[in-house]
Amino acid sequence: MDSETGGEASKARLRVALLPGDGIGPEVTAQAVKVMKAAASAEGVSVVFNQMPIGGEAIEQTGEPIPERVLAGCQRSDAVFLGAVGGPRWNNLPRAKRPETGLLALRQELGLWANLRPVKMYDPLANASPLRPESLGHGVDMMVVRELSGGLYYGRPSECREEGNGRVAVDTMWYTSRQIERVVRLAFTLAQERRGHLLSVDKANVLSCSRLWREIVDGVVSDYPGVRAEHMYVDAAAAELVLRPHRFDVVVTENMFGDILSDLGGALVGSLGLLPSASLGDDGRGLFEPVHGSAPSLAGQDKANPLGAILSAALLFRYSLPDGRGAGAADRIDCAVLQVLRDGYRTLDLEVSGGRIVGTRAMGDLVVEAIDGGMRNEK
Ligand code: IPM
Ligand code: MN
Repeated sequence: MDSETGGEASKARLRVALLPGDGIGPEVTAQAVKVMKAAASAEGVSVVFNQMPIGGEAIEQTGEPIPERVLAGCQRSDAVFLGAVGGPRWNNLPRAKRPETGLLALRQELGLWANLRPVKMYDPLANASPLRPESLGHGVDMMVVRELSGGLYYGRPSECREEGNGRVAVDTMWYTSRQIERVVRLAFTLAQERRGHLLSVDKANVLSCSRLWREIVDGVVSDYPGVRAEHMYVDAAAAELVLRPHRFDVVVTENMFGDILSDLGGALVGSLGLLPSASLGDDGRGLFEPVHGSAPSLAGQDKANPLGAILSAALLFRYSLPDGRGAGAADRIDCAVLQVLRDGYRTLDLEVSGGRIVGTRAMGDLVVEAIDGGMRNEK
């Protein structure tokens, strides 16, 4: 935190690097920005945004998916907020020039290794879940902890080459024990703060990385009394998530499995458009982004659900402003979202009978109004 006026602790100022990106990224980011401003002003916090290009937008401007100066701008900020990257226009570029490579480089350069993806069923949205009420049980409230620095995303070699009379493609799953242990310990700590259950997901019947993963989980479990740890293969975990989602609390897994299972989690609670995420590392500067992608087919039509981005803004305050005001701003956003859903407002992805369908912008406005209304009630 940066206090400009001679140690006057009451003037918190948060510098946020803003990377709207591609597709629906700019639309959902604009709503998150409105909401951040409203929540910050309610807490007496000032937020300064520094907007920069990433992904396809950056490729168009500079030829690179993440220019040096953008990386440097992110390093200088207190937190990074990102919309989404990617689109059909850039799908045939070589890997180093793809929009997604910009995001992966950003995660790596910022030293981010834990991606927290809370998956929560909102009561007013129970009928938007594809599951029958009896499968939903007493609701869904889990934290997917996705390892973000290793696995197939960063292992080398990763290439496609000519060999004999055909082409061969190779990707490498790579993990060090250090990478595994730090994320597993974080997941155990979260389980201690939550309902005391940790599910570690792997494919230890096939993969070496998974066997190391399992060994490390078993090696640290005794450091976390009160946490019940369980292992499950990823295929079984996918089925179990659909059959009995209510029994999951904290789920910890490697990079690619976490990517896949968190989309499944989004579908369970009604829409991937609802899920936020926080990516954290050692130095306190996090990256906050909705779990969904750039959804090119929805772009520019005011149809996208901005709640994943708005809830990511809540996580930004919670993790980047570690005093009462950060938690206060985050709580204001979370409460406002719940209220808007209770009032029956829905974006198209959540269309069910009885909901009032609104566009991206209107949904953002409703959340801002709910924050402002909450503030008036305090006075
Ligand atoms: C996500 C996305 C990214 C990932 C892509 C865009 C590289 O799917 O954040 O879940 O796979 O990590
Ligand atoms: Mn994904």
